[in-house]
Amino acid sequence: MNREDFKILDTGVIYFDNGATTLKPSVLGEATSDYYNYYSSNAHRGDYALSIKASSMYEKTRELVKVLINAKDASEIAFTSGATDSLNKIIFGYFKDYLKKGDEVLITKSEHAANILPWFELSDQIGIKIRYIELTDEHKVTIENVIKAITPNTKVISLAHITNVVGDIRPIKEITKYAHEHNILVVDDGAQSVPHMKVDVQDLDIDFLVFSAHKMCGPTGVGIIYGKKELLKDLKPIIFGGGMNSEFNNDGFRRYKEMPERLEGGTPNIAGVIGFGFVIEYLQKIGFENIQSYEQELKEYLIERLKEIPEITVYNSTSESGIVTINYDGIFPQDLSIYLDKYNICTRAGNHCAKILKDELHIKNTCRISLYFYNSKAEIDKLIEALKNPNIKAELI
Ligand code: ALA
Repeated sequence: MNREDFKILDTGVIYFDNGATTLKPSVLGEATSDYYNYYSSNAHRGDYALSIKASSMYEKTRELVKVLINAKDASEIAFTSGATDSLNKIIFGYFKDYLKKGDEVLITKSEHAANILPWFELSDQIGIKIRYIELTDEHKVTIENVIKAITPNTKVISLAHITNVVGDIRPIKEITKYAHEHNILVVDDGAQSVPHMKVDVQDLDIDFLVFSAHKMCGPTGVGIIYGKKELLKDLKPIIFGGGMNSEFNNDGFRRYKEMPERLEGGTPNIAGVIGFGFVIEYLQKIGFENIQSYEQELKEYLIERLKEIPEITVYNSTSESGIVTINYDGIFPQDLSIYLDKYNICTRAGNHCAKILKDELHIKNTCRISLYFYNSKAEIDKLIEALKNPNIKAELI
């Protein structure tokens, strides 16, 4: 779909590393170059036309994000540098005060580093306990296993909506319903879900949601924090400086702004945020339902075709997203990825920042094919052809 919007595809590259970052449509480059060439100026800091335009374009993106995820109010959206930054700001800005020694946070072993390491750090600082929800044989989260893991000390459940290696879609709506009945907050890492499906924070009743622009055709260096208004009022900034304060004096008195400015200290990535707004409009024209169903069709096609190659193990054939994680018998995943690159096919090999998932998969490294709406069945055919090469092992050298 929409391949003509991605100039890089004219080079013949086959890009299957969309879990890491996506390609960018022309509209992004046009919007950011327009800002740099015609109204480059700071946002929220100037009383002249250029800066007023930059500010209003920046705020327009906030409105677009609000509509994208169906937040109640634009003040529930703050811009960060990415999902990792967002999670750190929530964990150290909110949960550091909210949690006390002995409280438990539930995560899983298939989380991305950004949803594990900040919790470990917080655990060292204030003595909270990190516990793992048991995964099924297919490495998935079920509501039954979430309920089993909950104890009277559980205060937070922090989960990827879609994991970046297994690609399973977690039952977030069921989880938030049960969690809220038991006074537990839910943090949703939407880095791999918001780009690929309709995510409605009110319908799912999510307390905090994070995601990154660059995994959905947007710029690098732009991320989002969504939080319910009543929670955000207690989220303390961890970055202090210009733009986030309303006044301070030489005796140390200071007053910080309300959300969302309070979380946006320093000059933000103005061009990126403005460009992201254009990208949101672009994706909405395509439609998230169309994106999700097309990716599902591509994924089923890929799984079927991979079955033709007996040397291939697929670790997540039943997962619901466009992420397919494989190994080729007798070939180290990095070597496989380098081999595929000779055919202009981009995949990611390694542990994909999910370093404790090896306990579940019983394998440390894999090769990941992650799809997006501009991929095609013809590209999958080329991948299969490269994998069927009878001289594949000889060509590794
Ligand atoms: N989290 C990104 C990935 O899964 C970088 O590749």
